[in-house]
Amino acid sequence: MRKIIAGNWKMNLGPQEALHYFSEFKKLAPAELPRNTSCVVFPPAYDLGPEIQRAARDAHIELGAQNVHWEEKGAFTGELSPIILKLLKIEWTLIGHSERRQFFGETDQTASKRLRAAQKAQLNVVYCVGELLAERESGKTEEVLRRQVEAFLTAYETGSQVCAIAYEPVWAIGTGKTATEAQAEQAHRFIRQVVQEKLGAEKAHELPILYGGSVTAENAKTLLSQPNVNGVLVGGASLKPESFVKILSSV
Ligand code: PGA
Repeated sequence: MRKIIAGNWKMNLGPQEALHYFSEFKKLAPAELPRNTSCVVFPPAYDLGPEIQRAARDAHIELGAQNVHWEEKGAFTGELSPIILKLLKIEWTLIGHSERRQFFGETDQTASKRLRAAQKAQLNVVYCVGELLAERESGKTEEVLRRQVEAFLTAYETGSQVCAIAYEPVWAIGTGKTATEAQAEQAHRFIRQVVQEKLGAEKAHELPILYGGSVTAENAKTLLSQPNVNGVLVGGASLKPESFVKILSSV
């Protein structure tokens, strides 16, 4: 299966820094991407213009938006239209990130609406799920993942675009507490199992599942060597071209 190495810049790096980033990345990265690999960066929306797109493309990086709305247009202050993203040649979007869920009222229901709209607009998607620390400690990890993945499945359609799930345990995001490769593999296997129950083995097998949460240049290789880990979604360590190139080279 294709591997996806994705960086989530969150609310970091403005346009000048983004241009500098991609030119540095290009200098440091091997001339070609590793075989069968996509490299995607989700910068803030003000870094999605044509000049930065060109710089990213030059570095073999695809760009995505960190959020997308379920309507095409209208009175939705602060939101991004899926069809306009597509028109602007932005090919990817992130949906349901835990920071959206935690701070901006994102729910399983709104995330699945965004997914439906993004797929209709032919965008590639990385859809995030993951349990809180309290949920893991009270033995509810699988219950939570099942609920989140079932919401994903209410909207998900297989098609020509890429649609991946990112398993991001909330306790591992930005904390330096990475899930062990065994914990990641177990959760990924469970997510694939839930998908298989609804869509069958073949479709479940084709769905890329990325791990996210304190991925670094040091731990990426071990995580990526797990059979059900098909890529990584990287926050902090994607902000420096040096470490993101190292993560890409771990494929
Ligand atoms: P982190 O963030 O790598 O800084 O833990 C991951 C994410 O939020 O996607």
